[in-house]
Amino acid sequence: MPKVIWPELTAPLIRKAAAADLPAILQIECEQFSNPWRLEYFAAELANSFSNLFVVENSANGALIGYLLFWRLGVELELHKIAVAKAWQGQGIALQLMEFLIQTARSWGSERVVLEVRAHNTPAINLYEKFAFRGVGRRRDYYDRPLEDALLYELVL
Ligand SMILES: CC(C)(COP(=O)(O)OP(=O)(O)OC[C@H]1O[C@@H](n2cnc3c(N)ncnc32)[C@H](O)[C@@H]1OP(=O)(O)O)[C@@H](O)C(=O)NCCC(=O)NCCS
Repeated sequence: MPKVIWPELTAPLIRKAAAADLPAILQIECEQFSNPWRLEYFAAELANSFSNLFVVENSANGALIGYLLFWRLGVELELHKIAVAKAWQGQGIALQLMEFLIQTARSWGSERVVLEVRAHNTPAINLYEKFAFRGVGRRRDYYDRPLEDALLYELVL
């Protein structure tokens, strides 16, 4: 279960992202990734019919504290980004985003959720394994800055 520590009325809100959210998304992106996407990449996702970009905001003040990006490709969902601002990490926000992702996948009748993750990204790997994702492969030297293997994970629904 998520480690929810907020009072009921100020619980974070997950909602679809809009163009006005892009600067705040980019701020977290640059804080959390060694090779961050540029703003244009996120803008392109908003215009992409199979892409789904959601944000989580602090409902007390509207501040953006995380985001989730996934593609719906037939019966498969591909998770491309999940990130939480440093100040909000370790408080169950990613657990809520993953629950939202899996609930969405089930409600759409998806058969599986797939993702790639850096081989040394322990927080993310622990998060995915907590939701019973299983390792199904490895891509050598898939990432750069720094060069690193990708692990492929899958959750069959
Ligand atoms: C991975 C990430 C999204 C987790 O966000 P978070 O809100 O801090 O995570 P939560 O507090 O919801 O923790 C959920 C679970 O994730 C794992 N986890 C989170 N932070 C961890 C850490 N520092 N070390 C080890 N495991 C960790 C744990 O399994 C945790 O559950 P537990 O505390 O019951 O053991 C966050 O660290 C992040 O934004 N990282 C940078 C972006 C990234 O690498 N994204 C993944 C690739 S796209």
